[in-house]
Amino acid sequence: MSTSTNERPLSGIASIGLHLPPLAMGVEELARLRGEDPDKFTIGLGCKAMSLCPPDYDVVELSVVAAERALSRWGGDRDRIGLLAVGTESALDMSRPLSAWVAERLGLQGSIRSYEVKHACYGGTLAVRQATEWRMAEANQGRAALVIAADVALYEQGDPGEATQGAGAVAMVIDEPEVALIEPHSFPWSEPVFDFWRPVGEAFPRVDGKLSLECYKRAAERCFRALVGQQDPEQVFADFTAFCFHVPFPKMVLKAVQRVGTFFRWDPERIATFFAEKVSPTMAWNRLSGNSYTASLWISVANALQGLQLGERVAAFSYGSGFGAELLTLKAGPKAISGAWEKDVVTDLANRQFVDAAAYCALRA
Ligand code: HMG
Repeated sequence: MSTSTNERPLSGIASIGLHLPPLAMGVEELARLRGEDPDKFTIGLGCKAMSLCPPDYDVVELSVVAAERALSRWGGDRDRIGLLAVGTESALDMSRPLSAWVAERLGLQGSIRSYEVKHACYGGTLAVRQATEWRMAEANQGRAALVIAADVALYEQGDPGEATQGAGAVAMVIDEPEVALIEPHSFPWSEPVFDFWRPVGEAFPRVDGKLSLECYKRAAERCFRALVGQQDPEQVFADFTAFCFHVPFPKMVLKAVQRVGTFFRWDPERIATFFAEKVSPTMAWNRLSGNSYTASLWISVANALQGLQLGERVAAFSYGSGFGAELLTLKAGPKAISGAWEKDVVTDLANRQFVDAAAYCALRA
């Protein structure tokens, strides 16, 4: 699978590693703490649990564990890594890139382009695209990229976004498309808005929640319209086994699907069936992790790719506040069927501890 018919090098995901941190809290426990009806969080937002980090467990730790898993599954020599890009909005410094902390822990130095990508939840996707295009442009000189999407998503205590918190990391080696080909053409859409932002020096984001929902839906509609173009929408959608979305909370994704479906004149039953069959199953891990910002879409993509036959296609809609969005399409490679990375999530979920409200308050103190 090294070259396409026109001899342009194919590029894609050669291996995946995931990591969720060792603590979590159920959203029903949070509802009790905040005096909310638990149904608002479980039914209204579609959330189940949020991943949490213990003290001294940060975005670097998340990134390194995910990266070690992806690198060991890839099996290539670390000397072949020529690019390290970390997409995150949990930066530790305004100047020093998060990739420097990660590179130190992974023993990566030398002839490597190492940097951090920031664009809210879209940063990980931008890093994936840059690495893909770097390889397709043959700027890589035979080398592979290590891309990490990692975040710790926390809101101020009592903020309406608190139930959607989470944390996690996805690392991908971008090389031969053994797990999935990233198709060269993608569909971006951006508009400069203030829907969710974090001013320099502030610990937590500021959010215009209702505006953010509208921006996300508009971006989804625009990207899917671009995917379909002048083609028959039914034929375009039928070509995909699964549709993954950035998952700030699962109900957001349903709202976006309703917006897209309405644009294509689907009736409510068609929308519900499409969501149940092709979208909702991809969010199984997101429901248990919460919003992990840059990692959120890629957790869904990792879930969707496992077990796919060679050539099956997956669509991936990325959204980052500010806002920037992009719809990518992927094609399963020969190693997708093994779904080897599922083990990471199964292991982390089995090992994590659920905290109660008192322990959560102590963690946040
Ligand atoms: P809110 O305003 O407190 O909630 O917070 P609400 O009153 O809109 O209720 C939420 C839903 O629960 C509603 O459902 C209610 O009806 C329902 P809807 O009408 O929308 O379908 N509800 C109930 N259902 C059952 N039983 C009940 C009950 N009570 C209410 N008893 C908000 C919601 C999303 C604003 C908040 O969680 C928030 O601010 N979240 C953070 C922002 C966010 O996630 N935005 C998503 C799009 S932007 C994005 O994805 C980017 C992001 O990831 C950041 C990045 O890019 O870096 C966030």
